[in-house]
Amino acid sequence: MIPKETIEKIFDAADIVEVINDFVHLKKAGSNYKGLSPFVNEKSPSFMVSPAKGIFKDFSSGKGGNVVTFLMEHEHFTYPEALKWLANKYNIEIEEEELTADQIQAQTERESLYLVNQFAKDFFVRQMFETNEGKAIGLSYFKERGFSEETIRKFELGYAPEGSDNLTKAAISAGYKIEYLVKTGLSKTNERGSYDFFRGRVIFPIQNLTGRVLGFGGRILKQDKKSAKYYNSPESPIYNKRKILYGLYQAKNEIIKEDGCFLVEGYTDVISLHQTGVRNVVASSGTALTEDQIRLIKRYTNNVTILYDGDSAGIKASFRGIDLILKEAMNVKVVLFPDGEDPDSYSRKVSKEELEKYLEEHAQDFIHFKASILLDDAKNDPIKKAETIKDIVSSIAVIPNQIVRQVYIQATSQIFGITEQALLNEVNKLLLKSGDKQYKEQQRQAEVVAQQPSVPKVSKDGKHPLEFQERDLVRLMVQYGDKFITVEVENEDGETEEVNYPVAQFIIEEMLSDEIEYKNKDYQLVFDEYYDGLQQGLVVSEKHFTHHPNQALNKVVIDITTPKDSVSQNWAKKHNIYPVDESERLKEAVIQAVAMFKLRTAENMIAEKQKELKVETDIDKIMKILESINNLTRARNAFAEQLGIVITR
Ligand code: CTP
Ligand code: MN
Repeated sequence: MIPKETIEKIFDAADIVEVINDFVHLKKAGSNYKGLSPFVNEKSPSFMVSPAKGIFKDFSSGKGGNVVTFLMEHEHFTYPEALKWLANKYNIEIEEEELTADQIQAQTERESLYLVNQFAKDFFVRQMFETNEGKAIGLSYFKERGFSEETIRKFELGYAPEGSDNLTKAAISAGYKIEYLVKTGLSKTNERGSYDFFRGRVIFPIQNLTGRVLGFGGRILKQDKKSAKYYNSPESPIYNKRKILYGLYQAKNEIIKEDGCFLVEGYTDVISLHQTGVRNVVASSGTALTEDQIRLIKRYTNNVTILYDGDSAGIKASFRGIDLILKEAMNVKVVLFPDGEDPDSYSRKVSKEELEKYLEEHAQDFIHFKASILLDDAKNDPIKKAETIKDIVSSIAVIPNQIVRQVYIQATSQIFGITEQALLNEVNKLLLKSGDKQYKEQQRQAEVVAQQPSVPKVSKDGKHPLEFQERDLVRLMVQYGDKFITVEVENEDGETEEVNYPVAQFIIEEMLSDEIEYKNKDYQLVFDEYYDGLQQGLVVSEKHFTHHPNQALNKVVIDITTPKDSVSQNWAKKHNIYPVDESERLKEAVIQAVAMFKLRTAENMIAEKQKELKVETDIDKIMKILESINNLTRARNAFAEQLGIVITR
């Protein structure tokens, strides 16, 4: 628990521009700052920071909030983690409440272990770059492997010298306790004294999400087979190898941007891919994948692609780990490299574009991949074939989403020539046997879906003409754009707070947050005018348009706002939504117009997706479409619900 006064102190001290500048290159724009969105890939800046209000707004992703929200979104910190990060930056001491003596003891020990590791990492880096031995042996080894100096610095690679106790001595004389050196595994002791664990090896520091060093991997340089290729730090209070992924610290932002993560086996695979330009890559470091590691990835994306080298020995062993990913409702693909190549060697031979192309073209869906590998083994042996089917079915059964399971059942049925019903029975048997809560939940969800009213079809292509809704929104923006409505927002303490919003800003943010554009190009023009104005902190007025040199704009606005705007009035009256002239009911009118527009847009998009679905044959694509229909339906229902609430108020 961080005391409330400390939280306030942190908020007072934190300068939102300074903090965000650590992650996003910001430029001053009027009283605000602007930059490229850190949440999506974009070419023109849509990310805004207002130092006066202490908030940021990302128009591309719709994210927004204060300095702590930013850190939570960007760094995926928890609330206390974000506060601690800020406290550290601004030298504010956090005295946590109610810690027991044991907890304090454990915390100081962990802190000491981090510090020792930090010292060791710096030591290894210095050894490599600043000593003759380091340069001649360590640095030249990495250079020979094709690692650039930039890459070496980025991953903070280093060199542990040959001597028996260089690090231990240096650490002790810098004031670090031998106790902590031993606990991190950096030093060993015997009756003759203390000595270094890593000697004559190149060093890969293993970092956590925030870049702190938890442990090290040390690779041997000689070819000799007597000693293990890698020495790794032992488990310690700060290092649990089941809970970390090598490279995640360097990869996480790219994983978010790409909405996907490549998974490889080794340190060098991560580094080579990264250097070639594919930076959303992490390694399980030679161990079987664990649930904790999968959850780490799931914080950032639902899409995992596993990269295997050509030899298939380890592949079958990894199937269990992959079932764990399926269980988390994540999508798994697999890429095989040509014989004799691993991700490291292959990515050093090709350009970024070639590598990306290879990964894209060779990504296979996991279930198909597994089926084909096992089927290959089974050949014509019927017993083996039956086992194989069971095996595939068991993978399908762990997938939480029923629709996804169904798609795989269809595919498996085709591959093996068995009826879908037979496979479905097998899957259901497994689900029942596992007493699966998810299974029951699926059954319930299936009923809910069945009860949902179908999407009303309006015109021949099943779409709503959006003219009325668009017109209504633009009219509200022009007539009432600079009027304020009160909107409830959640502040950092989780309390709801009433904030005054200009109508125009409210509508624009609502539209942008769902990346909706107007179909009517004239209306889009009006919208863009408001958007440009707001970028400079201005709400343009009706006059702005009536005096506008652009004739088209001029005409639309006058057209929309003339009192004889009977189309809009009739429409509104007919739908009994709100009395047009009552500006005191403005808030309802605006919220309603926005929700109605979004509802219709969602329905149109659903209709479009359903059309796609009818002609699509590729299973991956079908799944994607089903997923978007699901999401759109959920959005559509949310808007309908919102409208229901507004109407009855
Ligand atoms: N590993 C290990 N101990 C070993 C061998 C391997 O801890 N004796 C782990 C390391 O994390 C290594 C990973 O398993 O990165 C994959 O092993 P391997 O492919 O042999 O190592 P690479 O990192 O590819 O190293 P190199 O390319 O230099 O052979
Ligand atoms: Mn390798």
